[in-house]
Amino acid sequence: MNLETRIGKITLRNPLILASGVLGSSYSSLNRIYKSGFGAVITKSIGIEEREGNPNPSVFFLHEIKSAINSVGLANPGYKLYKEELKILIEKKVPTIVSIFGGNIKEFSEVLEGLDDLLFLGFELNLSCPNTEKEGLAVGTDPQLVYKITKEMRKRTSKPIWVKLTPNITDIFEIAEAAIRGGASALVAINTLKAMIIDIYSKKPILGFKRGGLSGAAIKPIGIRFVYDLFERFGEIIPIVGVGGINSGYDVIEYLLAGASAVEVGTAIGIKYPENKTNLFIQQIKKYMNEQKLESISELIGGAHND
Ligand SMILES: Cc1cc2nc3c(=O)[nH]c(=O)nc-3n(C[C@H](O)[C@H](O)[C@H](O)COP(=O)(O)O)c2cc1C
Repeated sequence: MNLETRIGKITLRNPLILASGVLGSSYSSLNRIYKSGFGAVITKSIGIEEREGNPNPSVFFLHEIKSAINSVGLANPGYKLYKEELKILIEKKVPTIVSIFGGNIKEFSEVLEGLDDLLFLGFELNLSCPNTEKEGLAVGTDPQLVYKITKEMRKRTSKPIWVKLTPNITDIFEIAEAAIRGGASALVAINTLKAMIIDIYSKKPILGFKRGGLSGAAIKPIGIRFVYDLFERFGEIIPIVGVGGINSGYDVIEYLLAGASAVEVGTAIGIKYPENKTNLFIQQIKKYMNEQKLESISELIGGAHND
């Protein structure tokens, strides 16, 4: 049985990828996930300079619904400092995608060009950060800007560029189409959904930043629909990477059937030790493939679209 999967020019030993941010960006935690059996890892989103992030508490696990709400924001060491950590990951041959963010094209360009000489697999553009030219709104909600950022990044690197879409929009097709026109190598869906939790006794929002993003099992059906819709419209022209609420190997299968060529796992890894999870995920995928008499992952991709 072959668990290998291809996302454009990138081939992974299996479809499991660590989602950006959940375990930070240090070599030791990312290496641990890869060693546990993942196909690849994605770094925390890296920007031009060090950012502290939002006040604590910034992550709150909603265990009863296997989900989390976070307002970690874009805390990161900045690309110059992070480069040293990245060099170790590459030296140790951990298949790594580097997630980058910026508030405008200039910032995205500086980070991309500052890291591009290293030999990692590719970039993921995190478009969920606030647009520095249009106060408040995320970069990824503006199709014109998504097109321009993707196109400008395409000019500056020969590495694959994955564009990670925010679900906090009205029309995903418009944004996805802009990314494709700009030269994206894959679409990644989805990032967290805008959310909030309130403590009824203190009568205050629980997160230090008040507002946050929901992730984990609660968002899986939303992620599945995004991937299904994107595959239906663009599946012939661009690979899709599914993210959101994956908690078992069967959830991975569900995303593959919706049209994902690979998946990213975030909150589930934050909640439980990766070593236990990874083995279980792989066993469940193999069990399903055995039952269904399938030889390769490619037989599953988009399977829910067959009549
Ligand atoms: C604590 C935390 C930090 C995150 N940081 C980032 C980030 O830096 N960049 C990014 O693109 N996504 C970030 N995400 C979103 C995840 O990569 C993922 O898209 C989302 O959590 C949905 O997947 P999940 O349900 O498997 O967690 C973060 C999520 C969490 C829970």
